[in-house]
Amino acid sequence: MNKDIQEILISKEEIERKVSEIGAQISRDFAGKNPIFVGVLKGCFIFMADLMRHVTEDCAMDFMVVRSYEGTTSTGSVSIIKDLSEIIENRHVILVEDILDSGRTLYYLKQYLMVRRPASISVVTLMDKPARREADIHADYYCFYVPDSFVVGYGLDYNEKYRNLPYIGVLKPEVYEKN
Ligand code: IMP
Ligand code: MG
Repeated sequence: MNKDIQEILISKEEIERKVSEIGAQISRDFAGKNPIFVGVLKGCFIFMADLMRHVTEDCAMDFMVVRSYEGTTSTGSVSIIKDLSEIIENRHVILVEDILDSGRTLYYLKQYLMVRRPASISVVTLMDKPARREADIHADYYCFYVPDSFVVGYGLDYNEKYRNLPYIGVLKPEVYEKN
């Protein structure tokens, strides 16, 4: 285990099992609809790569890069660093997120993409922290509910570190305290 990790919250095996289950469920729900998966970078990259290998129907993929800002008001704001390269009008869009926390990022993104008149927008997230939700948004598919603690690994970072860990773990408090 990495020396900065306090405990493994979700093991590699648990992740594999659940991701394959969700991939199969999405395949059934979107059969014949040729959906477009939109990954929200960077956090989604490992989850999306694994998920897509369990999607058995025809589909397309695209990516966005977004940055969330804490404004002076509690609403916050999000900026788009990289937009879609595909056209989503009349397409079924499935947003792929690493973690749904306050929900502000996805709420903003959903409104932002809605203007382009997709046939539908669904959300799949690896993790959901429902206790911290502030925006009116929910995940249509989630792999794990997690408690209100900061987690890293399997694509998620703290200061750009730990994305490469094959499991999801809780960081030791002293790692935060040093910074
Ligand atoms: P939201 O707009 O508050 O839902 O922010 C979600 C984004 O914050 C996620 O896509 C992550 O990039 C980041 N985030 C929230 N919680 C965690 C965590 O526990 N570990 C790592 N990143 C997190
Ligand atoms: Mg993210």
